Amino acid sequence: MYSESREFLKNTGENAKKAYVSVLNERKISGGEYGDVYEAETKVENSSVKSRQGLQKFILKKYSNRLGLASEWASNAIKNYNNARKAGLRVFPTFRVARDESTILMTNGNLKGWVCIGTNQESPGLESKEFNLQKLYDIQNYQELIEEIFRQSKLAATAGIYLPVDSFMFLVRRDAELLDFVIGDMDGVVSDSRNSSSLWSKNFSQAILAFEYFLRRNMQGDRVNDYIKQLLEDKVKFLSLIPKL
Ligand SMILES: Nc1ncnc2c1ncn2[C@@H]1O[C@H](COP(=O)(O)OP(=O)(O)OP(=O)(O)O)[C@@H](O)[C@H]1O
Ligand SMILES: [Mg+2]
Repeated sequence: MYSESREFLKNTGENAKKAYVSVLNERKISGGEYGDVYEAETKVENSSVKSRQGLQKFILKKYSNRLGLASEWASNAIKNYNNARKAGLRVFPTFRVARDESTILMTNGNLKGWVCIGTNQESPGLESKEFNLQKLYDIQNYQELIEEIFRQSKLAATAGIYLPVDSFMFLVRRDAELLDFVIGDMDGVVSDSRNSSSLWSKNFSQAILAFEYFLRRNMQGDRVNDYIKQLLEDKVKFLSLIPKL
């Protein structure tokens, strides 16, 4: 069986907390511009948390070194993750860089009845072989979701963080028709922007666009238009609540 033991660092720098993770097997789930994404079965060694000593599924994002930029991309993602987390944004609880400086280990969004769907066209949707689920007919928590997206857009803007459309990932509980989201792809995030009300508007508009893409790909045909109409009305309504400079 394929097995590789690697050291993953919690933060970069001298005092980084280390975790030794054995990758027992891995399966590619997506390929992108920056690299490839794998779902990996792992064993976390010497974990202080007892329950973590068993097998655990994580996601590995391996940056491509085609342009010699893998370690730069990975450290950029870690920097953006740390800033986003500090700002109180919804990010995955685990996001660590490997000693090789070009692989990131993160929480698997496909766990405990939830599936994780990225914004890119190529990422697997509900009906894909990966998930084999029916498209959504309804979203039970639509209203709370929009409000939370609005709040997160503001939190990010306050911290000077720009969230592009492809940073958003949606988490779906298909059985209960529940939807959640996370800022999961840190590559295009810009964490040294200037706080402004226009940054709040931009973040919110990017999030709504991500939501629209999600609906087009993952909602049943006769429901898509109703939801998108509602979404675009809410977009206008919420944008009007943002104070102008
Ligand atoms: N933590 C995660 N849990 C579950 N699935 C994930 C996770 N991270 C990524 N994925 C899956 O992998 C896909 C690609 O992820 P991501 O967008 O981060 O990669 P990328 O290399 O940046 O791709 P692109 O270059 O197309 O933006 C996601 O759309 C999602 O399907
Ligand atoms: Mg990406």
